[in-house]
Amino acid sequence: ILRRSYNTKALKHSQRSYSYIQPHASYKVAILGAGGGIGQPLALLVKMSPLVSALNLYDIANVKGVAADLSHCNTPAQVSDFTGASELANCLKGVNVVVIPAGVPRKPGMTRDDLFNINANIVKTLVEAVADNCPDAFIHVISNPVNSTVPIAAEVLKNKGVYDPKKLFGVTTLDVLIDADVPVVGGHAGITILPLLSKTNPSVAFTDEEVQELTVRIQNAGTEVVEAKAGAGSATLSMAYAAARFVESSLRALDGDSDVYECSFIQSDLTELPFFASRIKLGRNGVEAVISSELQGLTEFEQQGLEALKPELKASIEKGVAFVQKQT
Ligand code: NAD
Ligand code: LMR
Repeated sequence: ILRRSYNTKALKHSQRSYSYIQPHASYKVAILGAGGGIGQPLALLVKMSPLVSALNLYDIANVKGVAADLSHCNTPAQVSDFTGASELANCLKGVNVVVIPAGVPRKPGMTRDDLFNINANIVKTLVEAVADNCPDAFIHVISNPVNSTVPIAAEVLKNKGVYDPKKLFGVTTLDVLIDADVPVVGGHAGITILPLLSKTNPSVAFTDEEVQELTVRIQNAGTEVVEAKAGAGSATLSMAYAAARFVESSLRALDGDSDVYECSFIQSDLTELPFFASRIKLGRNGVEAVISSELQGLTEFEQQGLEALKPELKASIEKGVAFVQKQT
């Protein structure tokens, strides 16, 4: 009996105080679209971060239960839920990083651009609230088509007078989840996704055929998942993993780590296009440097891929900009 009561006491004690994640910093993260396929596993991964003290979950429905569920994980981040437009402002107050996976995903046969009509307005509305409530936050846009939703976000922020191009990111991390370190530049749809396989680190010698096959495989990775899910959505778990990595990188940069590099779709003067994905260095104020050297010394195949992607990427960017401008 004694032994049993001792064990019970020890167990209760451990349940109260044991967390294998010790807080290292106290940043606030908000996820908009937190009840969805990406939002839920992303929230779990962010809840595991020792850099996060508050995790605010927003959706138009079904987010209360997600927050209650997550709150039972005894890590430092305190989870709060916010449902519907009337609670959006409170969700965003004081937040350091806002992640936006709100919107509809693809079904087989659709391009990311086919999502524009629904997702453009969702992103526009959410970024308006970000501008009003946490204009200094890093904004991570996941909602597709990223090639247009990031320019939409930029226009909204400009209209509100709070645009800081160093703090607006299209999340393209999913494109670089490859066993080797490969810069992936351009945009985030079809041929606009351009892996620079000649810049692989450690360097790998591919045949021309291998380069072609791998390039197409990386460009179609999202479509592969859409088809395998057969109508039940697109990448959610790998995307949550990728987004959590980008959140963690942003928080490390905010926390003073001077060695943080990611690929992201940002406002850029690397090419003649106003937005372009490339490797960037992250710092306390957002983008600290664009790693321009990776666009130098391209192979003929990569140079052709770069020229071929420009018209499509330009059109997607202009479509996003026009969407906001015609409403103002
Ligand atoms: P999902 O349908 O499972 O979840 C979307 C969530 O957004 C839902 O919970 C929905 O209620 C919510 N939502 C809808 N309108 C909203 C609004 N106005 N405000 C707040 N929340 C709203 O979809 P998912 O699989 O999580 O995908 C979300 C988006 O992410 C899609 O557009 C998809 O194409 C995109 N995506 C991007 C990448 C990338 O690499 N950038 C990867 C995967 C998916
Ligand atoms: C992406 O890469 O954007 C995702 O995998 C979702 C999609 O539609 O392919």
